[in-house]
Amino acid sequence: MASPDTVKRHPPSIVPYFAGFLLLLSSIILFSSLSKPPSSSPAEEHLLAGHRASSSSSSSCNYSAGAWIRSPESDPVTARYSYGSCREIFKGWNCVSKPNARDLLRYRWQPHDCRLPSFDPLRFLRRFRNTNIGFVGDSLNRNMFVSLVCTLRQVAKEVKKWRPAGADRGFTFVEYNVTVAYHRTNLLARYGSWSASASGGDLESLGYKQGYRVDVDVPEHTWMEAPMFHDIIIFNTGHWWWAPSKFDPIKSPMLIFEKGMPVLPPVTSEQGLDMTLKHMISYVEKRMRTNAVKFFRTQSPRHFEGGDWNQGGSCRREQPLSTEQVEELFSLDKNGTNVEARLVNKHLFKALEGSSFRILDITHMSEFRADAHPSTTGGKKHEDCMHWCLPGLTDSWNDILVALLESMWTNQLS
Ligand SMILES: *[C@@H]1O[C@H](CO)[C@@H](O)[C@H](O)[C@H]1NC(C)=O
Ligand SMILES: *[C@@H]1O[C@H](CO)[C@@H](O)[C@H](O)[C@H]1NC(C)=O
Ligand SMILES: *[C@@H]1O[C@H](CO)[C@@H](O)[C@H](O)[C@H]1NC(C)=O
Repeated sequence: MASPDTVKRHPPSIVPYFAGFLLLLSSIILFSSLSKPPSSSPAEEHLLAGHRASSSSSSSCNYSAGAWIRSPESDPVTARYSYGSCREIFKGWNCVSKPNARDLLRYRWQPHDCRLPSFDPLRFLRRFRNTNIGFVGDSLNRNMFVSLVCTLRQVAKEVKKWRPAGADRGFTFVEYNVTVAYHRTNLLARYGSWSASASGGDLESLGYKQGYRVDVDVPEHTWMEAPMFHDIIIFNTGHWWWAPSKFDPIKSPMLIFEKGMPVLPPVTSEQGLDMTLKHMISYVEKRMRTNAVKFFRTQSPRHFEGGDWNQGGSCRREQPLSTEQVEELFSLDKNGTNVEARLVNKHLFKALEGSSFRILDITHMSEFRADAHPSTTGGKKHEDCMHWCLPGLTDSWNDILVALLESMWTNQLS
């Protein structure tokens, strides 16, 4: 399964038309990395050694509170966005044909209390030498994973593609021994279809005929090994807990199991989520190295307007929403189509309290970006107002991730 497929890339394969521009760009990157003092401290080579993640953020800046600033038309679209031809980008997430394709990259996230440094892939690879980084979660975590991988590929010569520790996909940036992997899991917990047995049982006697068995205390095999393998791990779950088209409360309900037995009386999927979070947080905390860094990413908001995804809902906006529009669309009181975002977060925050996880809070900043979904671009029957165009919004999630990692490190050394 883990067939190593070593891809030599030298120089990065790019459309010749852009070669001159990229050459200029890479010399700027090279220059800026040379103009910083090279890493010399041994602590720097072992970023995470001896670091213990504290539950309270020691950073003084709240990277999640801020505003989107539009850069002037005269500014070139920055280095980060030149990964548009990266092969990891899933077809439906490539927005070149979207009317606002270039425009949506002109927005930069500006936290109120500090400046969010722009991502420097070379600096990142040097700083995180000998580090394994895992994304564990649904396709929205894959979207974030692709953003990171494609950004790093721009500066890496040798990239090995493989599937570490049960991952769906993964890449090692060989010169730096940095591995980034994606472990696919919708619920974190193991689940599978269930149907009534002829010999009967507790669920059968309650009238259940079919559904999905969710074992809230058993991690899905796709990421079971991930906590032992990675040094930095980023979790998410949420969308599938509110997916009535799959887990229809009547036709195909979630049936919550714990210790191999159905929970009786049956509980709702919201309670199932709480139980899953409790078990999975404890599973990870027991198994990861003490100096490992654990993040839980908050829920990514969807922007369906005029109906849900399968009811003709759309997201044709070409500009970010205003604060008022955000509240209109997402406030819990309104209980609108996209209410899931803040609802999931309530469960997450409660479950993470007192844990050693850090929270990567990207919900509110993303709520503004109704313009940044693929919408009709993928050419599918339904509009995609859930995933994000790449390059695009999840680049900013990674900017925040890196800023948090760097601030932890700075605080540790000082
Ligand atoms: C950071 O900002 C977000 C978005 O405004 C807010 O929800 C959150 O409570 C803030 N966090 C802290 C620790 O103040
Ligand atoms: C690469 O990094 C991993 C993770 O830190 C480490 O276990 C491994 O020994 C490293 N390999 C080399 C050749 O340094
Ligand atoms: C929110 O809306 C959904 C669907 O429209 C409905 O099923 C649910 O009962 C509502 N919840 C609340 C708390 O009003």
